[in-house]
Amino acid sequence: MIAVTAPTGNIGRQVLENILDRGEAVRVIARDPSPFPPRTRERVEVLRGSHDDPDVVNRAFAGADAVFWLVPPNPAAESLEAAYLDFTRPACAAFEGQGVRRVVGVSALGRGTAMARNAGAGDGVAGNGRPDRGAPASATGR
Ligand SMILES: NC(=O)c1ccc[n+]([C@@H]2O[C@H](COP(=O)([O-])OP(=O)(O)OC[C@H]3O[C@@H](n4cnc5c(N)ncnc54)[C@H](OP(=O)(O)O)[C@@H]3O)[C@@H](O)[C@H]2O)c1
Repeated sequence: MIAVTAPTGNIGRQVLENILDRGEAVRVIARDPSPFPPRTRERVEVLRGSHDDPDVVNRAFAGADAVFWLVPPNPAAESLEAAYLDFTRPACAAFEGQGVRRVVGVSALGRGTAMARNAGAGDGVAGNGRPDRGAPASATGR
């Protein structure tokens, strides 16, 4: 089973459809699953909530072979650190606690890109906070 975060977003929606097309079992974390088309809703297990909630991610990642994970944009965040670490810390603990062996994460600006370098410490926060403790992680940045 593959767990998918932010499945209603631009990126997560496409990831979800690709995984479903391959016939994989999928569990999604969604605050509101109503945007899913009926065909998608029929084929996924929905765990309602936000993936910054330790209880939600622990339940969502239990038994998952792999997780697709990203930090949602939050223009109202008090700081970059808060925006990224509030999501990353519960996820890292749940990856370790649930023994997730593979995590595919989306970086903030694309690791190693000129845009990320120009952002200076910003991408450092996002990149260093990526969920690679205890699980092999693939970055899907450009
Ligand atoms: N590496 C790169 O080159 C690259 C390129 C583009 C984007 N990105 C990164 O990808 C992320 C954006 O992805 P996207 O374009 O798919 O975003 P998006 O279209 O804006 O969708 C946001 C997703 O996050 C969910 N979400 C928002 N706030 C949430 C919260 N507090 N708790 C739980 N879920 C929440 C939304 O769910 P609801 O339906 O509940 O609102 C939705 O599924 C950003 O972090 C951005 O930095 C990286």
